[in-house]
Amino acid sequence: MSAASDRLNLVVLISGGGTNLQSLIDAIDAGELSASISAVFSNNSEAFGLQRAEKAGITTHIASHRDYENRSEYDAALADQIVKYQPDFLILAGFMRILSAGFVARFSDRILNIHPALLPKFKGTNTHQRAIDAGEVEHGATVHLVTEALDDGPNLLQARVPVLEGDTAASLQQRVLKEEHRIYPQAIQMLATGKLIIQDGVIKDNNGFSVTN
Ligand code: GRF
Repeated sequence: MSAASDRLNLVVLISGGGTNLQSLIDAIDAGELSASISAVFSNNSEAFGLQRAEKAGITTHIASHRDYENRSEYDAALADQIVKYQPDFLILAGFMRILSAGFVARFSDRILNIHPALLPKFKGTNTHQRAIDAGEVEHGATVHLVTEALDDGPNLLQARVPVLEGDTAASLQQRVLKEEHRIYPQAIQMLATGKLIIQDGVIKDNNGFSVTN
């Protein structure tokens, strides 16, 4: 946590609509999340989430991968910009780029992601249709620590929703998204209050017991 305050300093990375970013802004405004967002980065200049950030008075940066030769150059430049904000946590909120091992190592134990599935099930994209096709009776969302492997880090929090008869990917996505907006601020608040601690890739409760699953 930054020395100057008892609030977590967050930097949020987005690529799209930014409804999860909005849920964090709203939770902070409502006093439910002891944090402040010092910057929002997007790799996509068209991301609607940038407008949400600007409306909330948050500094925005567009970091387009098209401006760089390769992934490691892009990631190094992005990390260099992010460290200037000295964030306690980097919050991936619909950031549609895989981060290189070098980037993850630079912020180890400090990058969180929300994934629209009950990890370890359905890593990757198109999770809602894949859950329907697999005949799942429940689906959900996971807040997890980001490690080098895609959608693979230990979980902080999950929310489950039923898969209903007649569900389409779109209807299931809406049900899951509602839960994402609930659990992402909640998981970050557990870190802000020390209810959860992340150490060497392990999530622990405030008694030092691993809650990693
Ligand atoms: C969410 O479903 C999130 O789980 C996934 O990307 C989507 C982003 O939505 N990683 P939004 O931009 O927060 O609205």
